[in-house]
Amino acid sequence: MPKGPAGSTAAGPFDFPPQRHGGRNPVKELFGTLADGTKVHRWSLENGGTRLKVLSYGGIVQSLEVPDRDGRQANVCLGFDRVEEYVDSSPYFGALIGRYGNRIAEGRFTLDGKSHQLSVNDGVNSLHGGTQGFDKRVWDVEPFTKGSDVGLHLHCTSVDGEMGYPGTLKVKVTYTLTRHGEWRIDYEATTDKATVVNLTNHVYWNLGGEGTGTIEDHELHIAASHYTPTDSGLIPTGEPAKVAGTPFDFRKGKQIGRDIRAGHEQQVFAKGYDHNWVLDKGITAEPEHVATLRDPSSGRTLKISTVEPGLQFYSGNFLDGTLTGTGGHTYRQGDALCLETQHFPDAPNHPSFPSTVLRPGQTYRSTTIHSFGA
Ligand code: GLA
Repeated sequence: MPKGPAGSTAAGPFDFPPQRHGGRNPVKELFGTLADGTKVHRWSLENGGTRLKVLSYGGIVQSLEVPDRDGRQANVCLGFDRVEEYVDSSPYFGALIGRYGNRIAEGRFTLDGKSHQLSVNDGVNSLHGGTQGFDKRVWDVEPFTKGSDVGLHLHCTSVDGEMGYPGTLKVKVTYTLTRHGEWRIDYEATTDKATVVNLTNHVYWNLGGEGTGTIEDHELHIAASHYTPTDSGLIPTGEPAKVAGTPFDFRKGKQIGRDIRAGHEQQVFAKGYDHNWVLDKGITAEPEHVATLRDPSSGRTLKISTVEPGLQFYSGNFLDGTLTGTGGHTYRQGDALCLETQHFPDAPNHPSFPSTVLRPGQTYRSTTIHSFGA
């Protein structure tokens, strides 16, 4: 049984009733204003010992606080204090990613015999939806409480041709905090023309607390016997490879730092880990547990369950000490990691990968659950 926060009389951090701020939960406040005058709001919500701050800009999780083994709360996500920093220099901190999580080679794909050219923003490739992806959209946010759950519905419409993608895509993302301290994400999308969709979220985790240094001491378990190797531009070659006998084997759980300097060609391309793991469970109707992250020093754990067939584990390789986060510390390489549930990168160009095609009349649905413990 986890202990309650210092001074708390509650049975434990996972039994908090959803009531703070004088009973108002979620709470909305002005966060900033974009250059074109659009107001950006921040929503704060809490439940089950977890506190979440979400921006209408990018659906960004600015902070997520969870207790450690002694009940001490810490924000475990990288983020910025000001909206301008998110606009100008964010490497997708906490953001919703769309229309397509990760890379599409040369920003090109063919669907039903028609070829499409996407916005290119990562060398010759298209990354995370292009130059103006969902991480840069202002979302319509609607709070809700349902039973013991507290959450936000985020809506946006991406018009036909936006960033080169065909079809008007109507997107609804629901962030739910449950009384058990879980953060659940449900994605839904519909289209009026055949298109491709792959939505995810790009939180940068450091379970020791944002700005406390490296995640190389975190232990990671991923239930995957294969991953998708890439070329030097981080585009999958198309042939899944076995993790057995390589630094990519996280099936038994190991410290992230243990093999990060093994010098495997794939690690040289990525400057560490930045790959899609092929989850052994495949696509499932219900979320299944696929990964566990644990910080030995604080005792905090994060368990990820998803319906998705893939998980991008990115070890924060491109953080280079030039960005200063919410706690006033600069972020350096390996100061956080991302675990992005997804279909595989560049699937529109690999017929053997699970399909990311969405057609009119169908509804794209995806769910990922983050469960915290200590
Ligand atoms: C994803 C990519 C990485 C990197 C980050 C953002 O995880 O796979 O290569 O672009 O996003 O910096």
